[in-house]
Amino acid sequence: MKIEFKDQPLSKLSVDAEVVFVIGKNENHHFVTDTKELKKMGFLDGESDVCFAQSSDKLYVKCESLDADEIRCAAAKAVNYFRGKKFATLKIASYLDGGCEGRMIKALCEGFLLGSYSYEEYKSKKNPCQIKSITISSETYDEKIKKADEAAMQKALVDAKAVCDAVCLARDIVNSCPDEMIPSNVAREAKKIAMENSLDCVIHDEKYLKEQKMGAFLAVSRASAHPPRLIHLTYKPKNPKAKIILIGKGLTYDSGGLSLKPADYMVTMKSDKSGASAVLAIMSALPKLGLDIEVHGIAGVCENMIGGNAYKPDDVLVAKNGKTIEVRNTDAEGRLVLADCFCYAQDYAKEQGWQPDAIMDFATLTGACVVALGEYTSGIMGHNKQLKDDVLHAAERAGELAAELPFNKYLKKLLKSEVADISNVSSARYGGAITAALFLSEFITDENRERWVHMDIAGPAYVEKAWGYNPHGASGAGVRTAIKWLAGFSQKQCSPACAPSESKPKKKK
Ligand code: BES
Ligand code: ZN
Ligand code: ZN
Repeated sequence: MKIEFKDQPLSKLSVDAEVVFVIGKNENHHFVTDTKELKKMGFLDGESDVCFAQSSDKLYVKCESLDADEIRCAAAKAVNYFRGKKFATLKIASYLDGGCEGRMIKALCEGFLLGSYSYEEYKSKKNPCQIKSITISSETYDEKIKKADEAAMQKALVDAKAVCDAVCLARDIVNSCPDEMIPSNVAREAKKIAMENSLDCVIHDEKYLKEQKMGAFLAVSRASAHPPRLIHLTYKPKNPKAKIILIGKGLTYDSGGLSLKPADYMVTMKSDKSGASAVLAIMSALPKLGLDIEVHGIAGVCENMIGGNAYKPDDVLVAKNGKTIEVRNTDAEGRLVLADCFCYAQDYAKEQGWQPDAIMDFATLTGACVVALGEYTSGIMGHNKQLKDDVLHAAERAGELAAELPFNKYLKKLLKSEVADISNVSSARYGGAITAALFLSEFITDENRERWVHMDIAGPAYVEKAWGYNPHGASGAGVRTAIKWLAGFSQKQCSPACAPSESKPKKKK
């Protein structure tokens, strides 16, 4: 789907249909030209959020307010209305709120591009979105707001496309079934991403993991028929303003291992590679956005299975940094894979003679995070308040839901082990998302302690009942937040007009 901006009034654009957002039930707006028809259909008071007026070829979509996220949701409803219908081209006005114009146009694009996504690889009969192009007119919804600067709009469109392509790439990888997207094939995807985007790509195999004594990662992978991979992508522009490391949990399947998951809980566990997929996807967007920061994307990819050689509760594992871990539950495997990836990443930077400015990891780490925050919100954890706030702020601006889960010394004590340096699970029932992150923090060196932030995406990564502009399946959680956050380190911001100080353009009504 192509989205373009034209510095022309709506009337000058000739397309198959026009999309009109009815903001806050404002049927008196001059865009609403089919008031009689809408009244007859009971549109504004009825259940349906969309109403197509045949006489004018206008699709009316309810939109609560001129808020970026409402715009995303309305745009998604609009494109999905046309699914299976013979409309190929659409037009829409600029819905600006007087604040950052690039932000609103990006939100509109995100609604169209992310909302129209569908994964139909395994369907014999496909029903893809047929819309080929959408033209955004410079004509504004609020006439008092003067039309947007064309250059800023074009830049916002390019950025939005790069971000949405990345989100959809993450979705594609996660949605692939677990028998197809085995670790070697995730590595194949990484190589492809690297080739297409001029990134450096190193794939480490099982032999390397053994040489590096990554005993925790190896144990998780051991019962799988498919050997693990450690993926390392690098984006290295000249004179980088910062050096950042991203790390992703990539369980291509999490059966729970010998601490086997109940049948109902195992379904959707192909999504346990969402963190790694997000990292690969984020890396794919960086060259397109031209951020002047060096970014290392590291993904620990393997499968948690059962078998005669499976790792067991009671085993003691030795991680790359020499720390011993008592396994009390093989379903708490993500933290074991990440522990070794954390060691790998920090050792790598040290060997290369630099210290990362920040380390961020992405993981579908705990069911407890979903219990704590619900299915729509990611958990943000770490030792550095400013860093957590930066990520939360980035999430808000990017349109993803995230909330902090705070550490405390009492929860930390629950990871004590009688037989090893640390236990892989907490001894108490509650606070599982935080204790999981506290476990991870044990594999961050003292010098990097304040530079690390963790994002538990277990809730939003996989959508079982479509919401907002997220259809069923993978959502690409974390990608938009991370890109927004990374842009903060770059001098070349994604959208200069969206600098943090201007990011809250909400108007009081
Ligand atoms: N991959 C799961 C976490 C998960 C749960 C992701 C639901 C997405 C949706 C993780 O490996 C896991 O199983 N964690 C256990 C930890 C427990 C054994 C301490 C959990 O959350 O139950
Ligand atoms: Zn698990
Ligand atoms: Zn898992």
